[in-house]
Amino acid sequence: MRKKPARPLERPAPEALSAAEAEAELAFLAAEIARHDRLYYLESAPQVSDAEYDALRRRNEAIERRFPALVRPDSPSARIGAAPAAGFAKVRHRRPMLSLENAFAEEEVRAFFAGVRAFFRREADLALVAPERIEIMAEPKIDGLSASLRYEEGRLVLAATRGDGVVGEEVTANIRTLESVPERLLQEGWPKAIEIRGEVYMEKKGFLVLNGQRAAAGEPPFANPRNAAAGSLRQLDPAVTAGRPLRFFAYAWGESSAPFARTHEEALCRLRDWGFAVNPFSRLCRGVEAALLFYREIAAERASLPYDIDGVVYKVNDLALEERLGMVSRAPRSALAHKFPAEKALTILRDIVIQVGRQGSLTPVAILEPITVGGVVVGRASLHNEDEIARKDLRIGDAVLVERAGDVIPQIVAVVRERRPQESEPFHFPDHCPVCGSLAVREEGAVVRRCTGGLICPAQAVERLRHFVGRDSFDIEGLGEKHIAEFWKDGLIRTPGDIFRLDPARIGTREGWGALSAKNLAAAIDGRRALSLDRFINALGIPQIGQATARLLARRYRSYALWRRELERAAEGDSEAEARLLDIHGIGKDMAADLIGFFAEPHNRAILDDLEGEIEVRDYEAPAAAASALAGKTIVFTGTLSSMSRSEAKARAEALGGSVASSVSGRTDLVVAGADPGSKAAKAALLGVKILDEEAWLALAAEPGRDP
Ligand code: IVH
Repeated sequence: MRKKPARPLERPAPEALSAAEAEAELAFLAAEIARHDRLYYLESAPQVSDAEYDALRRRNEAIERRFPALVRPDSPSARIGAAPAAGFAKVRHRRPMLSLENAFAEEEVRAFFAGVRAFFRREADLALVAPERIEIMAEPKIDGLSASLRYEEGRLVLAATRGDGVVGEEVTANIRTLESVPERLLQEGWPKAIEIRGEVYMEKKGFLVLNGQRAAAGEPPFANPRNAAAGSLRQLDPAVTAGRPLRFFAYAWGESSAPFARTHEEALCRLRDWGFAVNPFSRLCRGVEAALLFYREIAAERASLPYDIDGVVYKVNDLALEERLGMVSRAPRSALAHKFPAEKALTILRDIVIQVGRQGSLTPVAILEPITVGGVVVGRASLHNEDEIARKDLRIGDAVLVERAGDVIPQIVAVVRERRPQESEPFHFPDHCPVCGSLAVREEGAVVRRCTGGLICPAQAVERLRHFVGRDSFDIEGLGEKHIAEFWKDGLIRTPGDIFRLDPARIGTREGWGALSAKNLAAAIDGRRALSLDRFINALGIPQIGQATARLLARRYRSYALWRRELERAAEGDSEAEARLLDIHGIGKDMAADLIGFFAEPHNRAILDDLEGEIEVRDYEAPAAAASALAGKTIVFTGTLSSMSRSEAKARAEALGGSVASSVSGRTDLVVAGADPGSKAAKAALLGVKILDEEAWLALAAEPGRDP
């Protein structure tokens, strides 16, 4: 609450202002409101009452209504009613916040730990990870949202949500309002700088009380404690967060200026010493079967826990092994989420709609009579493809069993035949695109049917543009699917380059838009005129080339210019350029064909030419660039290493910022030759490529690395 009593505003009414006076007044109000925001939110020392503050805002709005041309880019009105995401500063995580691989069946868990074992080679290592001996920290998987809290000199200095794992939202002021988050670390022995990671969640009791309050105030209820926690943390006004019963469990850490534990168990003890809540049920288990026993016990107690959990997380306890295991795509090889079984519910299939993807694929989606499955309202389910519909003989009007497992898209698992309406008919999958009417064909052996409309199909064009501005690509806020579809229809955006030529004056006069929102959009677009090569490649939406592959390509070619030159050469039939592409570890024949196919199309090259005039593609920087001798280098392994498996060697090279290739060429920087190396080593010697033996490799691999 702002404290002091209201003081009437003694300034001319908005109607009485000249344009020059209005301009000065808007400047004054922007500064004044920002000052009160700061006093209120950050310093907790308000100088005006709520009423007086509101009067300032209302006055600002009234003047803006009279003089729309004078709306300032930093206008306070831009900050209300905006999507919450637009209001948070972005934070780049110093170490990515990873996700976890999921398992549902016990067999999958056993297979996962067999995979952990297969990663190692030396007897001593193998003994540590044998299924009956491996130390596994098993923890309840809290159903909330993860956050990363940075402490410097023992003080909380920055808090961020996970976001996409690489960039999150800054929520420091909000996190400070949580009682279970220490402002200063207790005791001593903490690293000078450390990021504590854990889950922000809401207890079931607090959730029910909150929803009761919301109902009384005529506000919509939250669907479940997780949504309530997320909605409560992501509040522009930390005072709102402060009023919500949020809690925090610490269970991991990101960057740390110094090591502080040898095992996960020890680390959890330290976190507790420093003042964090650590889940009391977490248990160190010896062997995979003991971990599975923990899972069964927790599953049985699940309902009686004060908060929602959606499974168990297993972590290799030994941190040295964890470090060596590294990660695959965005998940560590050393940890696994064992989810509770999916929840099921019966409902009616109301309709089947066909979505057209950016490559023209026709995907059926089930429209359901909304139903709550495991605390979440489900109205749509994935139907995969037309064979799936035929196989299950799904018909509109059918009673269907819907299953939802964790955050996985709901699925229809069965049809209740006995309840089928008499007049129902088998579903006919369309053979024409429902959007552009072009023929939709299914190639031999393919499971998907594709619209042949290509460039004339609005659905494909809109989907491609949507991908282009999406979170993992250009990440342009405020340009959603609806806007793209409208702009496309009216010819304002037809190609990616058009996005950067949008004229705010023309947008501002459209229905649903104003000068301010158009200006904000233009500013969001301008803010994204430079991006890194990996994001750029991903943005192009080339078939099969997603985020992970885009990163592999960026890592190898580094610069946009080289990437384009090499692929154009390959598209012109230069077999060496093609061989260099295929040489990248992780790029298969099919992917290479799609990439080359993309460059073979003149209109794709025209799109690139056009974009080059609008944006800047920054060279890819390997995350370990500064630290490692392998950063940006191409490395080839040959022969057998006695100390580590090939997978560990590759993982290590990548963690150090290197790129692993399968054959030796003029572009190879380094060859690591184990026992019985064969022709690759010979070729390296011929080409004068540096060759390391196992010992030299181990010395190099011992360098401190970073997550790629
Ligand atoms: S460890 C490498 N431990 O589950 C990832 N995660 O599905 C580090 N979660 O994003 C996470 N309880 O939000 C870990 N005891 C626990 C957890 C936990 C809940 C969440 C977390 C993570 C998600 C992955």
